[in-house]
Amino acid sequence: MKKFVKSLAVVLVAISTVGCCSEKQCGETCSKEEAVYEVIMTRRSIRDYKEEPVCREQMAKILEAGIYAPSAINMQPWAVRVVDNKEFIDGVTAIAVASNPKIAEQSGFRNLFRNAPTVAFIACPEESYSGEYDCGLLSQNMMLSAWSMGIGSCCLGSVVPVMNMEEAKPYMERLQLPEGYKLLVGIAFGYPAQDAPAAPERDASKAFYVE
Ligand SMILES: Cc1cc2nc3c(=O)[nH]c(=O)nc-3n(C[C@H](O)[C@H](O)[C@H](O)COP(=O)(O)O)c2cc1C
Repeated sequence: MKKFVKSLAVVLVAISTVGCCSEKQCGETCSKEEAVYEVIMTRRSIRDYKEEPVCREQMAKILEAGIYAPSAINMQPWAVRVVDNKEFIDGVTAIAVASNPKIAEQSGFRNLFRNAPTVAFIACPEESYSGEYDCGLLSQNMMLSAWSMGIGSCCLGSVVPVMNMEEAKPYMERLQLPEGYKLLVGIAFGYPAQDAPAAPERDASKAFYVE
C-alpha cells in the first residue's frame, strides 16, 4: 500500500510538472494550456501606471521567471537591474526632458518610463553569439509572468539613447553592468492605471507551413 501511494505521488508530481497536456489529443485543450494562452493573448503594452512600485516579492518571482528563459548553451548572457527608486527614475526623466521638452507635454506625464514606478534594465554582452535573442526571451518571460499577476509592462527601446547620454553616465554607473555589456531595453513594470488596450493588428501571413 505504501509503495502504491508513493508511486501515485510520483505520477501526480510528474503530471503537474511535465505538463498537463501530455495525454491530450490534437484539438483538445487543458486548463494549463488555456491559462498560458490567455496570458499570452491578453498581455498588452501598458503605458500608464499607478504610483506604487511593484511589490519586491512579486518582482522576485518575475525575475526568476526571466532567468528561467532558455539561452544558447545555457550561457545566460544577460544582466538585469531593477530600479524602483523614484529619485533614479525622476533623475533620468529630467535628463530626457532637458534634451527634448516635448516628451513632458503628454497628458498625465510623470516620467520617461511611461509613468512606471519600477523599471528593469536589460543588458547583454556587446560581443555575444545570441545575447540579444536570449535577452528577448528573458524579457518576454518577465512580461508574461508579470501579466499573470495583474502587473502591466512595456518594453522601452526609447530609454536606451537617453541612458547612453553623457549626462546619464552616473545613472548608468549605478546599474553596475559588467564590463563590455550594452543596454538593450528598459522594461516598465507597474500596476496598470489603464485598461489593457486592444491588441494592435498582427499579420498572420508572416508565419506559415512549408510543404
Ligand atoms: C524591443 C522593443 C522596443 C519597444 N520600445 C517601445 C518604446 O520605446 N515605447 C513604447 O511605448 N513601446 C515600445 N515597445 C512596445 C511596442 O510598441 C508594442 O509591443 C507593440 O506595439 C505591440 O503591442 P502590444 O505589446 O500591446 O502587443 C517596444 C517593444 C519592443 C519589443
